[in-house]
Amino acid sequence: MFQETLFFLSESTTARRLVTRAPISRQLAERFVAGETLDEAVAVARTCNEHGLSVSLDYLGEEVTRREEVEHAVEMAIRTLDRIAEEGLNANISLKPTQFGLTIDEALCRDSVERVLVRARELGDREDEIFVRLDMESAEYTERTVALVEALWEAGHRNVGTVLQSCLYRTPDDLRRLMRLGSRIRLVKGAYREPPTVAYPDKKDVDRRFLDQTRLLLREGNYPAIATHDVEMINATRRFAFEHGISKDSFEFQMLYGVRRDLQHRLREEGYRVRVYIPFGEQWYPYLMRRLAERPANLFFITGSILKESPVPWLARPMAIGAGAVAGALMALTWKRRS
Ligand code: FDA
Repeated sequence: MFQETLFFLSESTTARRLVTRAPISRQLAERFVAGETLDEAVAVARTCNEHGLSVSLDYLGEEVTRREEVEHAVEMAIRTLDRIAEEGLNANISLKPTQFGLTIDEALCRDSVERVLVRARELGDREDEIFVRLDMESAEYTERTVALVEALWEAGHRNVGTVLQSCLYRTPDDLRRLMRLGSRIRLVKGAYREPPTVAYPDKKDVDRRFLDQTRLLLREGNYPAIATHDVEMINATRRFAFEHGISKDSFEFQMLYGVRRDLQHRLREEGYRVRVYIPFGEQWYPYLMRRLAERPANLFFITGSILKESPVPWLARPMAIGAGAVAGALMALTWKRRS
């Protein structure tokens, strides 16, 4: 129920207005978002690199409806690539097709992504162009995103790939399509609320598919990214790679900024490649809501620790009231919608 609430809220504009204005929400966001500016994201990326972790920088934004917003997204992606090159970061970028105009006009989206790919190629060296990952959004966009990657490969771009979600029934077909192409795939369980007509409702089924698809990618994929914080999935991946003589540098684990940092470091120390996904920017609301929906306990855990960490004891009580108000408002909004 609470998870449903958070999923619903991630799509609600009223809730977005309410939550983004509340100071406590910004503190919640800080746990999962590197900051609102590129400078802040670069600082976090540098620290990750110093610890042997590569990164993927994501300028937040999605479902844009105006061409100016698409232009802004292109400019920010190019600025991010330029900073990666200037600072010599071990980094690539992730972007969302609907931030690049997928819902406005597919040709606009393709042209905009191509501009980014061209810049990424210019900045990298021939062996190692900067890679651009198209995040996978809700199932409504899956076909268009996979088709976009195919079209970009056909046009000669090799530094682009996307993400497949094990929760979707269609994923085995998409895996075949993208593996035939040779593009890199990031495998995830799936972060969007999907109906049972398109996705497995039971988590056990999703986990089983995730493992099968991981094994297929390890055997036959092109430098796959296994993106999960699930220790069971991670251990099974390590076991399978070991038993089949798959080298540690032929795939990477990916995890989100702010989630299971202990595990990120442990895997790195064991010699695995680990990439941290670092979101930044002002449009953090839907991203934050998806992170909370994945693990509703986060909301209570984080508000609790914000209160504990509060440097001014007399501030703790108003902050607790603020946190309670945000949580209460969230619940009320959903209840209103349901009733
Ligand atoms: P699962 O949800 O089973 O969680 C396993 C354990 O991980 C939990 O018990 C908890 O300990 C920890 N954990 C998981 N999520 C947490 C959270 N938010 N906060 C704290 N702890 C948490 N999805 C998508 O649809 N399209 C995409 O493009 C991407 N991209 C992407 C990139 C990267 C690098 C990652 C790691 C994930 C994504 N995702 C995604 C999100 C993905 O689909 C999925 O929702 C989350 O990774 C959570 O699922 P897990 O595989 O971690 O397992």
